[in-house]
Amino acid sequence: MISQSQYSLANRLDLEKIFGRKAPLHVDLGCGDGSFLCALAQRLPDKNFLGIERLSGRVQSSARKAASLNNVRLLQMESSYAVHYLLPAESVETFYLLFPDPWPKRRHQRRRIVTPDFLNSVRAALERNGVIYIATDYLDYFRKIQETAESIRGFAIDEPDADLPLSKFGLIFAQKSATIYWLVLRKISPVR
Ligand SMILES: C[S@@+](CC[C@H](N)C(=O)[O-])C[C@H]1O[C@@H](n2cnc3c(N)ncnc32)[C@H](O)[C@@H]1O
Repeated sequence: MISQSQYSLANRLDLEKIFGRKAPLHVDLGCGDGSFLCALAQRLPDKNFLGIERLSGRVQSSARKAASLNNVRLLQMESSYAVHYLLPAESVETFYLLFPDPWPKRRHQRRRIVTPDFLNSVRAALERNGVIYIATDYLDYFRKIQETAESIRGFAIDEPDADLPLSKFGLIFAQKSATIYWLVLRKISPVR
């Protein structure tokens, strides 16, 4: 885990200090138990991986999986805050937002993480041509995410990568043969 002495809630993260090296950064937003984060980090040792998760039990599970990996760090925090305030501009090669809470009840839908402000913060944190992978099993949320992505400038839709490891929720949905909806957004320069 990133220790208190290495970051503050007011300053952007010093990624080189936190990871002890300079390398492309991949960020898993709401990383849950860390299955996906650690499987991918093991597969791609030349990349740095940051898992962001708000629940401490899940951060602890992720930390246990990450114990043998020197390219993984964890941050217990609200993802949107971290993306907006803590990640340096143009510092992220790839974001993953896998199975964000769908908040199906109408009165709870304002709690959904994907909003225009969130996607604008993601865009600001992405490097040129950087990408965010979004997956959900929830069609209504998927359509709202698509609408939101279309409403802001600066992203193009890209092809999903079939070769990503399964996350814990991805595995659960695969076992139920549920349809998974993917949206991959690549940062582009807005047309003037
Ligand atoms: C449905 S689970 C998916 C976990 C993991 N991505 C997977 O695919 O297995 C959603 C996760 O996101 C976390 N989460 C939800 N909203 C969050 C937020 N705003 N900031 C950080 N974590 C969040 C939840 O605690 C939970 O672990």
